[in-house]
Amino acid sequence: MYGMVNKAIEGLVTERFGEDTWFGVVERAGVEEESFISMDPYPDEVTYRLVGAASEILDTPPEALLEAFGVYWIKYVGQKGYGPMMDLEGQTLAEFLAGLDAMHSRVAAAMPKLRPPSFKLSIVSEQLYELGYYSERPGLGPMVVGLLKGLLEVKGLTGEVRWIGQKGESLDYDRFQIQLSA
Ligand code: HEM
Repeated sequence: MYGMVNKAIEGLVTERFGEDTWFGVVERAGVEEESFISMDPYPDEVTYRLVGAASEILDTPPEALLEAFGVYWIKYVGQKGYGPMMDLEGQTLAEFLAGLDAMHSRVAAAMPKLRPPSFKLSIVSEQLYELGYYSERPGLGPMVVGLLKGLLEVKGLTGEVRWIGQKGESLDYDRFQIQLSA
């Protein structure tokens, strides 16, 4: 994944637990870099190892870290100048979710080696959405829960995010439900 993902993991760990903890994570992960270049692609393994090492050091399940990372990512990309590309403020939540693939395509214009996920929105009712998440990468469902919770937060909405179907033998994608409160 592009370095900006690993840099965001660094940002999350450093802000919450300090720089020394981050250096410990890098060491435990056995990755060569202590810091990453946002616009350079790195093997996915680097990201997975960072999450695994952080999970061990912080004694927190990787799923909980990935969810926290998803929430953090929404704020991070806004701060790092990708806000306009995301165009979150200009759209309703449903418009934004329906446009996620187009948004990653805009990102891919600057990051040609991007292998983005894909999302498919179904509007069940005004307050209830379902989102299909298609990815070639395993294990990132909890991150999507965090991303969706982060989106609700920055949109000033309240509601629940549920992971209602896991990719497996009978389903080739992960399914999420977003239930908005009245
Ligand atoms: C302008 C804002 C955003 C930028 C710049 C961005 C960029 C990226 C980048 C660089 C990756 C790593 C993929 C790679 O390097 O091949 C990625 C992955 C991902 N993005 Fe985004 N993204 C943005 C917003 C979002 C939002 C709002 C969502 C919400 C659903 C999202 C969902 C994901 C997921 C789930 C992945 C994990 C990769 C996978 O599932 O295979 N992204 N994105």
